[in-house]
Amino acid sequence: MTLRLGVNIDHVATIRNARGETYPEPTRAAELALAAGADGITAHLREDRRHISDRDIDELSDLCRKRGKPLNLEMAVTEEMLGIALKHRPHAACLVPERREEVTTEGGLDVIKGHNSIGPTVAALRDAGSRVSLFIEADPAQIEMSHKLGAQVVELHTGAFCDAMRAGETDRSAAILQRLKDGAALAHNLGLEVHAGHGIDYATVKPVAAIPQVMELNIGHFLIGEAIFVGLAEAMRRMRVLMDEARA
Ligand code: PXP
Repeated sequence: MTLRLGVNIDHVATIRNARGETYPEPTRAAELALAAGADGITAHLREDRRHISDRDIDELSDLCRKRGKPLNLEMAVTEEMLGIALKHRPHAACLVPERREEVTTEGGLDVIKGHNSIGPTVAALRDAGSRVSLFIEADPAQIEMSHKLGAQVVELHTGAFCDAMRAGETDRSAAILQRLKDGAALAHNLGLEVHAGHGIDYATVKPVAAIPQVMELNIGHFLIGEAIFVGLAEAMRRMRVLMDEARA
């Protein structure tokens, strides 16, 4: 099975919002990404709307529907976000933790601590036809609880691995990678589909892409940054080559 590439276009909106302008448009980036072979578009509508806006989600939903490609809506576990997701019924909804002061999604969702609110949210999204993913650390207890709560997918947080690998911390990155591998195997055995994401760049993609149970990578910040230098299609092409090499 080829590994799918989901392109996260949040940071196109970050640039747009920095000037309070209408340009550059995330929907245009999504269109380009799909034309360049993205398997899906990922967007995170944050509670503080720091990048993606409600209107972006309207437009991205329309675009993905027209192109017959999946939209993966990343969202916090709140009533407001659930209402928006139920209105749009995206192909996939990925529940993520959100803290207002954080620069990005810094860790996985604690599905054990949050099971009382996460369980009903998973059920409501599933009833609406969305495929529900939980963005978690590769921790056996979190994976088992994700399964219990009825999620169909877990997305394993690769941020700590990518940071350690980029910092040249060989032992630490090897230990985290082993946890990701064990977590992917456990999730797969429980019948969960396994995705991975956060912090992935050209230098870190291969060990993650080589984990056989991983079916999809969601990559944003690096691809959008690299697009400044080489264009989005070329950045995606190179990433895809590395993913395919790792998988071969
Ligand atoms: N997956 C999830 C669940 C995320 O929250 C993010 C960041 O928004 C990503 C993947 C992409 O991470 P990055 O932008 O570091 O590639």
